Amino acid sequence: MDKIKLLHTHLGRINPRLLTRLEKTLRRIPSVQAMIEKEYREIMERLEPALKPYRGDFPTFSRLPETGRDRQEIIAGMETLRDREAARWKDGFVSGAVYHGDPAYIDFLNRVYAIHSQANPLHTDLWPSVSKFEAEIVSMTAQMLGAGETANEFCGTVTSGGSESILLAMKTYRDQARERKGIPRPEIVAPETAHPAFDKAAQYFGIKIVRTPLGPDFRADLKAIKKALNRNTIAIIGSAPTFPHGVIDPIAEMSAMARERGIGFHTDACLGGFILPWAEKLGYPVPPFDFRLPGVTSISADTHKYGYAAKGTSVVLYRGQELRRYQYFTAADWPGGLYFSPNMSGSRPGGLSAVCWAAMVSLGEKGYLEASGKILQTADSIKRGIESIPDLRVLGDPLWIISFASEAVDIYKVMDYMAVRKWNLNPLQKPPSVHLAVTLRHTQPGVAEKFIADLRTAVKHVRANPEEKGESAPIYGMAATMPLRGVVSEMLRRFADLLYKV
Ligand SMILES: Cc1ncc(COP(=O)(O)O)c(C=O)c1O
Repeated sequence: MDKIKLLHTHLGRINPRLLTRLEKTLRRIPSVQAMIEKEYREIMERLEPALKPYRGDFPTFSRLPETGRDRQEIIAGMETLRDREAARWKDGFVSGAVYHGDPAYIDFLNRVYAIHSQANPLHTDLWPSVSKFEAEIVSMTAQMLGAGETANEFCGTVTSGGSESILLAMKTYRDQARERKGIPRPEIVAPETAHPAFDKAAQYFGIKIVRTPLGPDFRADLKAIKKALNRNTIAIIGSAPTFPHGVIDPIAEMSAMARERGIGFHTDACLGGFILPWAEKLGYPVPPFDFRLPGVTSISADTHKYGYAAKGTSVVLYRGQELRRYQYFTAADWPGGLYFSPNMSGSRPGGLSAVCWAAMVSLGEKGYLEASGKILQTADSIKRGIESIPDLRVLGDPLWIISFASEAVDIYKVMDYMAVRKWNLNPLQKPPSVHLAVTLRHTQPGVAEKFIADLRTAVKHVRANPEEKGESAPIYGMAATMPLRGVVSEMLRRFADLLYKV
């Protein structure tokens, strides 16, 4: 770590653009390569025990067992694993991740899944029930997001999650621009805080992504967006709210820019789609972000987050069926038959769409309104609590995803200290900070108060013991400021390798 720190300090003095160009050459120097490899090994060795806690405790299968294991035994083992892991999120110690989590509600969703576990919407003839569920999920979501009671020009599809919704919307804009405008080298413009799924879409679909800086309030900077637009731009992206800081981009202004140029505008409401409409009704300051803005041409909204469905569904919505058709895949000449699929997968779990539908109709408007009210109220008290801790600073003006930083203490060490007390926060970078995404779990009595009390102690502790290293603080600290970004990307690949190690 010391050698790499030294390298780090030296590199930090070089112009970042020049460094990006030099990075590949630098990393090919044998001594640098050896140093970095050693670093990867050490980091992975340090992370491995926490990622593989069941080694030795539970049977491991690197190949099929010769004969099948007893079903009861399997179930019992699964229940033990579940119980070990549930303790943390059930009691509200986790940022985001489990958004509802009430045991009776989970049982209800599980029953629905069991009923439809064999359904596959690819076989439209066998399971028209799933087509019904999906059509209604899309319609209910569109109505909630400004499509209006009578308008039927809004449409969409159910997908497997926020990333797929975003990937599909970007592919849709690419194909539309290629066919309608003959744009061969498409570009999208996204503020720095837009989710990495937009980079993924750019990488997968041969689109250039232009990232723009933020304003001092952590929202997209309009001047920078305007400057980034050119003849190849096919869409602008805004978030409602952003994952890192929970703030809502100036979607009205951004979508107006897109409309003026006749290009797409995507609102990423993966996090906010199922909260903001209700927050607005409850009187919170919610700037316009949905289809009521004429320039918004697509929206992603995650049913598996604040829609309170099980993991594995999201909705992508479009202004007009004509746009949606660019999303579809068709193969008319395949010997296997006439093939089409509306989204990325072929076969899909119809059971998850059934669960999503059941979640939505069981909660209804009243259920979402009440849940949003509780979350927003709790978040407000947590925000005020953080603001009352002298060494901490809340970033921007968030509603329920609250990020905070510190000029006085290492915020990653604060996160580590909180982790020892079971709290799981999300580490952020640029600037170094962490956030708590408030869910229904945090609205349980006493949770918000405990969070603030523990956070106050954590800050005091880190201030009094600045020499303590912490568990992940050195890694986050290094990764957040490492000038060779390819080294950090490669570290993430090694991490993915580690996950697949038996
Ligand atoms: C704003 C935003 N967009 C997109 C995504 C991606 O969603 P998923 O993880 O379901 O693919 C997330 C996930 O946290 C998000 O916060």
